[in-house]
Amino acid sequence: MLIKNRHAWQESENAVTPEGVYVNRRNFLRAGLAGGAAIAGLGSGLSSAFAAEDRVLAPLTYRLTNIDPGEEQTPFNAVTQYNNFYEYGTDKDDPAKNAWRLQPKPWSVTVDGMVDKPGTYGLEDVIDFKGLQERIYRLRCVEAWSMVIPWIGVPLGPVLQKFGIQSGAKYVRFETLADKKQMPGIKWPVLDWPYEEGLRLDEAMNELAFLAVGLYGNELPNQNGAPIRLVVPWKYGFKSIKSIVRISLTDKEPSTSWSKANAREYGFYSNVNPDVDHPRWSQKRERRIGEFARRETLMFNGYGDLVADLYKGMDLKANY
Ligand code: MTE
Repeated sequence: MLIKNRHAWQESENAVTPEGVYVNRRNFLRAGLAGGAAIAGLGSGLSSAFAAEDRVLAPLTYRLTNIDPGEEQTPFNAVTQYNNFYEYGTDKDDPAKNAWRLQPKPWSVTVDGMVDKPGTYGLEDVIDFKGLQERIYRLRCVEAWSMVIPWIGVPLGPVLQKFGIQSGAKYVRFETLADKKQMPGIKWPVLDWPYEEGLRLDEAMNELAFLAVGLYGNELPNQNGAPIRLVVPWKYGFKSIKSIVRISLTDKEPSTSWSKANAREYGFYSNVNPDVDHPRWSQKRERRIGEFARRETLMFNGYGDLVADLYKGMDLKANY
């Protein structure tokens, strides 16, 4: 299993501060052209491409952990150019082309519902930037592709505790920004915007549930959900909601965008499960981005020893 020692996560002698990464859409287009990718799509996007403001992704200071599946990491270019972020379009390269419109600074997050300290907080009051850590997680999309991504962030549980979880709270609901000016994709009713997701409180408190503010050593690129997104590695990728503006504690199971769109295909739990097929395709195997042969999909995406207890006694076929 990936976590060699659960409670003694290694800290490097020195915190790590890598080089910043300079991402802009010109680089994206060059990369696409070099790879011969998506040339047909470039014509219409070209004028706006060069109007984009360049964004420097500042390096983050973080400690290393040994949370690492020990598998090859998906290259930065694939992690940042093959995305799902429907607020920017439904094609895999749309987020990298269009998410320059997102303004991640300044950013605030409203924390409300069953908490002692509700309010609207600046990102720095939600995330302790002095306590960042790196975790390398598998990401398994419900569409049957997967990646391995080095995220930077903090565990979700202690963040929630900071706001004082009230005793009746049972679930956490998350909401993404929905701003037509910044998000051209929400002109279309592909989903019921804002994108919303939820976890049971004990899932949210599990040590693997993570709030990411960076990847590959630097701040999150816009297309990956800047400036703050959830990462729940044992669940299908759509649970890992991007660009969060609201976190609410509640006693009722929250609705989620994807189950509102199609409850039969996308359940509340959406744990990675090779034994429960999507109604339209098998979930037994997956395509690791960058690999040719398909891999077997692992129960709970390989994180079962840390999360299986959450579902003891539950019928995972009925609660998909
Ligand atoms: N969050 C929002 N707000 N909108 C989205 O369309 N897509 C989800 C998830 N979070 C999505 C989202 C899906 S389907 C996946 S697989 C992951 O983000 C993809 O994350 P990545 O693009 O960083 O790999």
